[in-house]
Amino acid sequence: MPMTAIILAAGEGTRMKSRHPKVMHKLLDRPLVSWVTRAARNAGADRIIVVVGNGAEEVRAHLASEKDVECVEQTERLGTGHATRVAIEAAHVSEGPVVILNGDLPLIESETIRAFADTVSSGEHACAILTMTPPDPFGYGRVELAADGTVARIIEQKDCTPEQSETLLECNAGCYAFDGALLTAHVGEIGCENAQHEYYLPDMVEILRGHGHSTTITHCPDYVEGLGVNSRVQLAELTALAQAKINEGLMASGVTMLDPKTVWVGPDVAVGRDTELLPMTMLWGATSVGEGCTVGPNTRLTNTTVGNNVLLEEVVGVDVTIDDDATCGPRAYLRGGAHVLESAHIGTHVELKNTVVGKGSKVPHLSYIGDCEMGAGVNIGGGSITCNYDGVHKSRTTIGDGAFIGSDTMMVAPVSIGAGAITGASSCITKDVPADALAVERSEQFMKEGYASKRLERLRKEA
Ligand code: UD1
Ligand code: CA
Repeated sequence: MPMTAIILAAGEGTRMKSRHPKVMHKLLDRPLVSWVTRAARNAGADRIIVVVGNGAEEVRAHLASEKDVECVEQTERLGTGHATRVAIEAAHVSEGPVVILNGDLPLIESETIRAFADTVSSGEHACAILTMTPPDPFGYGRVELAADGTVARIIEQKDCTPEQSETLLECNAGCYAFDGALLTAHVGEIGCENAQHEYYLPDMVEILRGHGHSTTITHCPDYVEGLGVNSRVQLAELTALAQAKINEGLMASGVTMLDPKTVWVGPDVAVGRDTELLPMTMLWGATSVGEGCTVGPNTRLTNTTVGNNVLLEEVVGVDVTIDDDATCGPRAYLRGGAHVLESAHIGTHVELKNTVVGKGSKVPHLSYIGDCEMGAGVNIGGGSITCNYDGVHKSRTTIGDGAFIGSDTMMVAPVSIGAGAITGASSCITKDVPADALAVERSEQFMKEGYASKRLERLRKEA
């Protein structure tokens, strides 16, 4: 039976005090909602339906890059039960296991969802609810068990008596698995006679019970998985918990961290053995770093592939590839599909964009190299620039193997410099340079001996 995941992400998130919808607030490298779509996807959901409402345009625009996600809109925020009904009607969900996840539940693991959906697939219970016992249960719906051990009902914090609040410590994590046919048949029966006058999804427990169907709980041993984000303080707390979990996993697999509290790594990043991550390093998106590398301090890599034994110091890399034994930094900005080949060296205050730096080539100081194909063993003198943009077009520069580009060479693209060619320092190269040639473009040096002291004498007299 196909599994459907419904993610509730339409709420106002009032407690965030934000212009943006709550689910768009980032935890590490991605908005909250994308942690939940990721977990549903990895759990094997066949359909992922996100209910949007507050800030719908922003959430939709963000989710456009997740091709397997369908959005449905809840135009009025009448509660989690109402949001679920809207999703079921708009997306024509009818049978098979339906997993419903709060959109503010970022640390839920896909294995937990999977195991839990199976409880319902077996047919014994109509519903399963993920529960936990966090150190501070305040704010969560509390589970009241019946004598037979199944769930009698869930009481929201705001509807709890002080005694229920004190004694019912098993909390609803906001992750449910339902038998799709029963959910569809009865979701319309949820009412709103409660403290918040909202349609509560957890009320399905009593409704199903009334029709003779039971609900079970799956207790999550790691309560962290079940924590929700309602405020910025909780967002920071969960960020620290996610960071600790990811970093501990990396260290256990052979990664060194001088100070794990100052290293932030997204959930889809891979780091090889004996790589050291120094303070203030952020590795985001689909980044992978090989073995034996040193990364940081002050380095941020997004969707970047790094080989083995690479040194990156104070580097920002976005959508780039850096091959084995290369060194970059301190202070380099690599972007737009740049590819640094084996053993190449990118030095300080260098920017590369959409450029291939050949094997063993060097761009050591103060250069901008964009839209350039550079061969192997090239040396680019300090201050050199590819002038690749005329205000309208981007043009390419090619530099052949072993070329020596003198300091402060301006290469006005489109232009090519042949293999082994030399350009004189400070030349502005506008014409193709043949292989093995010398190209110098600068006026001859003019000199007047004894001029300096005479000038000073004159100026002093005038004063
Ligand atoms: C909810 C549960 C509570 C549980 C807790 C776990 C209800 C009534 N209560 O409370 O039992 O312990 O989660 O974190 O479900 N949403 C919509 N449309 C709406 C209202 C909410 O899509 O009309 C979405 C929100 O965007 C959010 C999720 O549903 O992602 C949960 O809503 P929230 O208001 O955060 O519920 P809690 O009060 O935390
Ligand atoms: Ca919540």
